[in-house]
Amino acid sequence: MKDVKARIQELRDLIRTHDYNYYVLDKPQITDFEYDKFFAELSELEGKYPEFVTGDSPTQRVGGEPLAAFKKAKHRLPMLSLQNSYSTHEIREFDERVKRFLGSAGSVEYFCEPKFDGLAIELVYERGHLVRALTRGDGETGEDVTLNVRTIRAIPLVLSKEARNIPLLEIRGEILMFKEDFRALNESQQEEGLAPFANPRNAAAGSVRQLDPKITAARPLRMYCYAFGALEGVRFRSQAEFNDQIAEWGLPTARLHQVCKNADCAVEFYNDTLKRRHALPFDIDGVVVKVNSLNLQDELGFIARSPRWATAAKFQPEQGQTIVKDIAVQVGRTGALTPVAIMEPVRVGGVTITHATLHNQDEIDRKDVRIGDTVIIQRAGDVIPEIVRVVSEKRPTHTKPFRLSRNCPACDNPVEKIEGEVVLRCANPLCPAVVRESLKHFVSRRAMDIDKVGDRTIDQMVDAGLVTRFSDFYKLTLNDVLSLERQGEKSAQNIIESIEKGRHTTLPRFIYALGIRFVGEQTAKILASHFRSIEKLIAATEEELDQIAGIGERVAHSIYSSLKQKALQKEIDVLQKLGVEIENPKSIKASATLAGLTFVVTGTLPIERNAVKDLIEQNGGKTSSSVSKKTNYVLAGDSPGSKIEKAQELGIPVIDWGEFQRLVKS
Ligand code: IVH
Repeated sequence: MKDVKARIQELRDLIRTHDYNYYVLDKPQITDFEYDKFFAELSELEGKYPEFVTGDSPTQRVGGEPLAAFKKAKHRLPMLSLQNSYSTHEIREFDERVKRFLGSAGSVEYFCEPKFDGLAIELVYERGHLVRALTRGDGETGEDVTLNVRTIRAIPLVLSKEARNIPLLEIRGEILMFKEDFRALNESQQEEGLAPFANPRNAAAGSVRQLDPKITAARPLRMYCYAFGALEGVRFRSQAEFNDQIAEWGLPTARLHQVCKNADCAVEFYNDTLKRRHALPFDIDGVVVKVNSLNLQDELGFIARSPRWATAAKFQPEQGQTIVKDIAVQVGRTGALTPVAIMEPVRVGGVTITHATLHNQDEIDRKDVRIGDTVIIQRAGDVIPEIVRVVSEKRPTHTKPFRLSRNCPACDNPVEKIEGEVVLRCANPLCPAVVRESLKHFVSRRAMDIDKVGDRTIDQMVDAGLVTRFSDFYKLTLNDVLSLERQGEKSAQNIIESIEKGRHTTLPRFIYALGIRFVGEQTAKILASHFRSIEKLIAATEEELDQIAGIGERVAHSIYSSLKQKALQKEIDVLQKLGVEIENPKSIKASATLAGLTFVVTGTLPIERNAVKDLIEQNGGKTSSSVSKKTNYVLAGDSPGSKIEKAQELGIPVIDWGEFQRLVKS
C-alpha cells in the first residue's frame, strides 16, 4: 500500500515536471508516448486505489458537467489597465514623468517585456494549490472560470514545495494560443462547418469562456504570467525577482524580458521586439515597460485606473493596400467550399501576401468584397492575411457582388448547405478535390506521418492516376514514383522508404487518418481508448458511440454512417492486407471487480463525474444514465436527484462513496 502511494506520488511529480519542461521551459525531455505511459499508469493506479485520488492529480484536470452560467466574483485587488501609447517617444515621456514624480536625478531601472495579446486572467493559489481563476471582467468583478482553467496543462494545479506554505498568492497573466495551434484549430473549425475564429486572441478568449470545460480541455491554450494581485506571507523586491521566483515555483513566464538601466535601453528593447515579433510563436501587440523596483512602484501608485509605474507601447497594426484579382473557391477534405481572394502581391509586416481567406458567403456579404476591388489587408493577429475592408472610393464601375456558385468548382456537382452551418459543401464523395485533400490528410504528420510525400507529390500522383485511394500508396513501386515529372532517384527512394516506415501506426492515428467528419485527433484518441481495435470500432452501434463521454450525437452519427459504408470497410481491410499495422492501445484495465455490473451515478462525489465513470469502466463495470431493471447499483453522492426514488421503486440498492470503494477493492 505504502509503495502504491509512493508510486502515485512519483508519477504525479513526473507528469508535473514534464508539463513544466514542455510548457514553461519549452524543452520537452520525453516523447509524447512516454508521457502517455506515465499518465496511463497513474490512471490505472488511481483506478485501483480510489482512496488516493486527490483533486490536484493531473488526472483530475477535466471533468464536471457543463455550467449554466459563470458565477461572478470580486477580485481582492482590482485588475487595472495600462495607458497605451504607440511610439518610442512616449516611452521617453513616461520615463520623464516617473523621474519627475520620484524627484530622481539619475536614471530609473525598468523591467521590459512583450505585451501578450490574449485574455487576462487571475489565478488564486492558496498554500500552493490553485483554488480559483477569474477573468478580468470590468476590473473589479470577473467571472469564475476555474473549471476551465484547470484543464490547461500549462497552468500548474499545484506549485512546487517551497510555494506550498504561502497562504495566498494571486498571479495574473494572459491566456493565449500559439499561432500554429490557432491555424490548426481554425482548419478543423472550418472542416466542421463552424465559424472560424478571427485571430488567436479571440480563439483563446472564446475557449476560456466556454460553459463546457470539456471544450476548453480540447483547445490548445497556454499562459504567461506577468503580475500579482493580493499576496500573503510572501514579498518580492522587484519585478525581475518576482518573475524568476514564480518560474521556479512552476508558473509559466515567457522569459522574453529584459531589465533596462534607463529609457534608452527600454526604447532599444521596443525596437528589437518589434523586429522579432513575427518570429515568436504567439502574438504580441507591443511592449510593457514597468519600473523594476517594487518599492518605487508603491511610491508611484496609481492615477485613475492605471498604475503610474507602467506603460504599454503598442505596435501599429501593419496594413497594406492591394487589388483583388480574383476570388477562387477551394474544396476541402470534407467538401467544404472556402472562397479565397487572390490579390496583387503586397508586402505587409515583412512578408509578401497574395491570398486571403474570405471564409464563407456570409463573410463576403458582410465585407462586400468584389473582384476588382481595392482592399486594405492586414495579418490577423499577426499571422493570417485578412481583408479589413474595401476602399469603396476606389471601386471600379460595373462590379458585381460575388456569389459562390451553386456547383462544386472541382466536380460540378450541386453543393449543399447544411442547416446550422455557414459553409457550403460538395457532397460528392468521389469529387476529385475531396479525394486529393483526403489523401493529403491521410499522409499528414498527425495522421500516418508519411513525411516525404508532400502536397505537391500528391498532386502529381493524383494527376498521373497513380493514387486514388489510401491503399494505393502502399502499392507504389520505385518505378511508379520515378515516372513522375522532375523526380530524382534519391528522392523517389526517400518517398518509398517513408511510405514503408509509415506502415506501422497507432490506433488513434489510424482513426484520425481516415478523415471521418468531426473526428479530429481528440475524438480519435477517445475512440481508440474506448474500442481498442479498429474492428470493434467498426462494429459499434450508433447508440454505443453516442454514449461515450466526449462524443456528441452529431459526431456519433458521422462515425457510424462513415464506417457502415462497405467501401470504407473494404479499404481498411485492404490497408491491413497491404501491411499497415495498427498498434492497439494497451488495456489499462485495473481489475475486474465490477465485471458484469451496471451503475447509475447521481449527486456530487469526492471526485469528478467522469473520473468515477472511468473508474467503473477500468474495473470492468458499465455506467448508464438512467435507472432501469438492468441497473445493479445506484451510486449516490451529495444532493442526489430523483434517481434515488426510481431506484427505491425498483428495489435497486443505493450505495454511497465508501461502499463503492469497498466494492471496487473486493
Ligand atoms: S502588467 C496594471 N504585463 O495589458 C496592469 N500587462 O492594458 C499591469 N498585458 O489587462 C499589467 N501583457 O491583460 C502587464 N507583460 C504584460 C502584459 C500585460 C499583456 C495586458 C493585461 C492588461 C492589459 C493592460
